Amino acid sequence: MLVVGAGECGTRAALALREEGYAGPVTLVGGEPGTPYERPPLSKAVLSGAADLTPLCPAERLAEAGVTHLAGVAATALDVTAHTLALADGRVLGYDRLLLATGARARPLPGALVLRNHADAVALRERLVPGARVGVVGGGFIGLEVAATAAGLGCAVTVVEAAPRLMARAVPERLAARAAARHVEAGIDVRCGTAVARLEPGRIVLTDGRVVEVDVVVAGIGSAPETALAEAAGIAVGNGILVDGAMATSAPDVFAAGDCCSFPHPLYGDRRLRLESWRAAQEQGVHAARAMLGTPGPYAAVPWFWSDQHDLSLQVAGLSGAATEEVVRLRPDGAELWFGLDAGRLVAVAGIGAGTAVARDVRIGEMLIARRATPDPAALTDPAAALKPLLRAPSPVG
Ligand code: FAD
Ligand code: NAI
Repeated sequence: MLVVGAGECGTRAALALREEGYAGPVTLVGGEPGTPYERPPLSKAVLSGAADLTPLCPAERLAEAGVTHLAGVAATALDVTAHTLALADGRVLGYDRLLLATGARARPLPGALVLRNHADAVALRERLVPGARVGVVGGGFIGLEVAATAAGLGCAVTVVEAAPRLMARAVPERLAARAAARHVEAGIDVRCGTAVARLEPGRIVLTDGRVVEVDVVVAGIGSAPETALAEAAGIAVGNGILVDGAMATSAPDVFAAGDCCSFPHPLYGDRRLRLESWRAAQEQGVHAARAMLGTPGPYAAVPWFWSDQHDLSLQVAGLSGAATEEVVRLRPDGAELWFGLDAGRLVAVAGIGAGTAVARDVRIGEMLIARRATPDPAALTDPAAALKPLLRAPSPVG
């Protein structure tokens, strides 16, 4: 069993192969040096200096599980006919089953820093000194988490977002507006509906003609799936490596999972999704490991992610873009919940509030989505009505 990519997904998959009872050799090939680590803290506690790297598992865990971790060496070529993988150091490894968990990379903007790995976080942290003028290009998750962290460190932050509003890719407008207001309250200059015309030394020139003076520029303008290895091997690729519900690619014995893959989701009419979130990477790693061991089944977990910005935490379950109708619950503690429905069926729930305020309700929403529930919108809106009883209603999927 060969796993390429020692990130969230690949590391989890390698351990899951053992947990599922596989006793043969497992090799985990990772392009990054050192012990595999968590990425979410890179834009939060690691960037603020509150914490150092969080390992994905204790350093000795992989060795204890009998996983051979080849760190700091990239896989350079995959031969799906010969069942071999070539590494940058000249080694060639054979495999019976192979998992591509190569993740994604930050879309570059020449002249700007990006944030995808630990080295990026270290380089950026050095620049976030009090008083530094920080230009953030992109008002998505990376941009806004970096903006919040930088403002907390005493930097003067400007966010430039090309779209008319923040986080349009995955967050309902109402909740994004609430986050935007919090950024402005924290002193961040948020400019939507304008893009970067060009970066000049010490300046961002915007397409609307305005100029922002900066000491450092960070780009969070999206990520691109890491598909080069698969493409060169002749494996079918779209927006990500194309897999079926069991994470199998178009090549025999080759699987893909995590940020690098595009899979059909049964809850959304088998629409292809490429999720870019921590929990999906973990779950898909486990799912792929089971499929590699011969127990395939459709991956059907409800998409879920969170983002921390200032003292607010945002959580989204399901696909907000699949909703054709929306209802809102305003809670007395100031937290807000948003429910997205399509033809009466709950397809997404999102919440924003202090700390973990929305976690429980979003979790219940997630269970309702998985059950394809058709809750009464009035029960969703009323802050006095508990959500949990809605789970007792008969479910179309049992
Ligand atoms: P990755 O974590 O990208 O790992 C892929 C690994 O494969 C990398 O180590 C890469 O070097 C390696 N690799 C690639 N090609 C090769 C090759 N040819 N040979 C060998 N190795 C290779 N999600 C949330 O839900 N909530 C959050 O708050 C959150 N915060 C985030 C903050 C940051 C700064 C970032 C960057 C992401 C964040 N995410 C968050 C997203 C989440 O971390 C990712 O979805 C998750 O890491 C994806 O895991 P993955 O294993 O699929 O890919
Ligand atoms: P993103 O797709 O969330 O946001 C990119 C934003 O940049 C979009 O709003 C887009 O309109 C804007 N943009 C694109 N080009 C632009 C330009 N030229 N000028 C101005 N704005 C422009 O991607 P982001 O934030 O870069 O995140 C990258 C990856 O990291 C994703 O995979 C994301 O899921 C992951 N991540 C997830 C987090 C979370 O879930 N909490 C936190 C941090 C990162």
